[in-house]
Amino acid sequence: MSQQADLFKKLTAHCKEYGFIYQSSEIYDGLSAVYDYGPNGVELKNNIKEYWWRSMVQMHENITGIDAAIFMHPKTWKASGHVDAFNDPLIDNKDSKKRYRADQLVEGYLDKIEDKINKEVEKAQKRFGDSFDEAMFRQTNERVVKYTTEYEEVSKRLATAMSANDMAGLKNLIDELEIGDPEGGSRNWTEVRQFNLMFNTQLGNIAGEEGKLYLRPETAQGIFVNFLNVQKTTRQKVPFGIAQIGKAFRNEIVARQFIFRMREFEQMEMQFFVKPGTEIEWYNRWKETRMKWHLAIGTPAEKLRFKDHDNLAHYANAAVDIQFEFPFGFKELEGIHSRTDFDLSSHQELSGKKLQYFDPELNENYVPYVVETSIGCDRMFLAMISNNLIEETVPDAQGEDSSRTVLKLHPALAPVKCAVLPLLKNKEELTSKAGKLSIS
Ligand code: GAP
Repeated sequence: MSQQADLFKKLTAHCKEYGFIYQSSEIYDGLSAVYDYGPNGVELKNNIKEYWWRSMVQMHENITGIDAAIFMHPKTWKASGHVDAFNDPLIDNKDSKKRYRADQLVEGYLDKIEDKINKEVEKAQKRFGDSFDEAMFRQTNERVVKYTTEYEEVSKRLATAMSANDMAGLKNLIDELEIGDPEGGSRNWTEVRQFNLMFNTQLGNIAGEEGKLYLRPETAQGIFVNFLNVQKTTRQKVPFGIAQIGKAFRNEIVARQFIFRMREFEQMEMQFFVKPGTEIEWYNRWKETRMKWHLAIGTPAEKLRFKDHDNLAHYANAAVDIQFEFPFGFKELEGIHSRTDFDLSSHQELSGKKLQYFDPELNENYVPYVVETSIGCDRMFLAMISNNLIEETVPDAQGEDSSRTVLKLHPALAPVKCAVLPLLKNKEELTSKAGKLSIS
C-alpha cells in the first residue's frame, strides 16, 4: 500500500473511531457513498458552515441568504439544462461487470503521466541540488518533454470529446490508450453512453410524467428562481449576491474516496448578480476572495491551486476550480463559474415571468449576469481532516520519544474549543468546581 493510501486509510478509521463520520445504515452493510456525521463530525461541519456563512453573508453588506426547498417545480430542471445535459459518460467492463466514468478512466491515465513527470523532476532535483533549474529541466529533458506532449494531446482530445458529447470519440480514446479496468486490467469494454445524474421521485397525488420530481443536484437553482423576490424585499442594487447552504443529490456512477464524492452531500453556494459585461472582472475578484478564504483558515498555499476548466459546462463562459491536495492528489474543492445570464434567461423563457432588474443608473431593464462560488461542505470537511490530522513525536513521562496522532484544527473549526478537566477523578469539590467553570 502506498504511503498516501495508508494515510487515507488511517484518516477514515480515525473519523469513525472518534465520532466524526459513520457509514450510513452500517448495520445493513452500509449504503454506498452515503455517510452520517457523528457527535464530533456534526460540530466540525456546523463550524465550517458558520465560518462560510459569516464571511460570505454577514460580512458582505450586499449578500443575503436564503433557504430554499429541496423539491422544486420539475420545469426548473428543464430550464436549467439538467434534464438534457446533466450527464456523465458511463462505460461498463464486460468481464469485471464494474461500471466507470469514461472521462475519469482517461483522467486516471493522465494522472499516471503526471506522476511520471513529477518523479523525473524529483530525481533531477536530488541530483542537482541548489543549482537545479526546474523550468529549464521541464523544457529540455527528453523524457519529460515526451510525457508532457502526450499529456497535452490526450487532455485536448478528452476536452474535445466531452464538449462535443462525442461518446464514440471517448471510447476510441480509451481503446487507443489501451486503458484497462483499474481492478483487473480487462480491456473488454462496452460502448460509452450518457447517464443522467439526477435522482427522481413521484408526487403522491399526480401520476406519470406530470408528477415527476427531482432531488436538486445543486442548490443554485433555488437562488435563481427567487432572484426577484430577494431583490425586491432587500432592495439590493446590482451587484449583489444571494447565498445558500443546503443538501444536493447526485446519482454518481463511481462514488469512491470516502466523503469526496457522495450521492447526498451539502453545498455552500453564492450567486453574485452583476451588470452584463462586468462578469469577468467580478469572476477574477471572486477567484481571489475565495482563495484568501482558504488561506485564512490555515490551509497552506502549496496545498491549493487554481485549475481552469478545459471543458466548460453548458451555462459558463469562464470557470475555474480551487483544487486541494487530498491524500489521493490535487482534486476540486470549490468551483467558481461565470454563468452568464443562462439560468435567469432560461427561467424567464420557460416560466413566461420576467426575471429582469431595473438599473436606476442606466434607466433600463436587463437580465443580470451571474458569477457563482460553489463549495462542497463535505469536501471542505475532508480537506480539513486530511490537512490537520498529523502524527507527531513527543517525549513520554519517561522522556522517551513517543508518537501520537493529533487533529490540529483551526480554533474557528474545532468541535471542542477548550475543556476544563479535573486531574483527580473522585474529588467532589474539584469536579463540581470544574463543572461550574465549564458552563460559565
Ligand atoms: N452550482 C454549481 C455546481 O454545483 P459543481 O462543480 O458541480 O458546481 C460544486 O459542484 C461543488 O460541490 C464542488 O466543487 C464540490 O465541492 C461539491 N460536490 C459536487 N459533487 C459532489 C459530490 N458528489 N460529493 C461531494 N461534493 C460534491
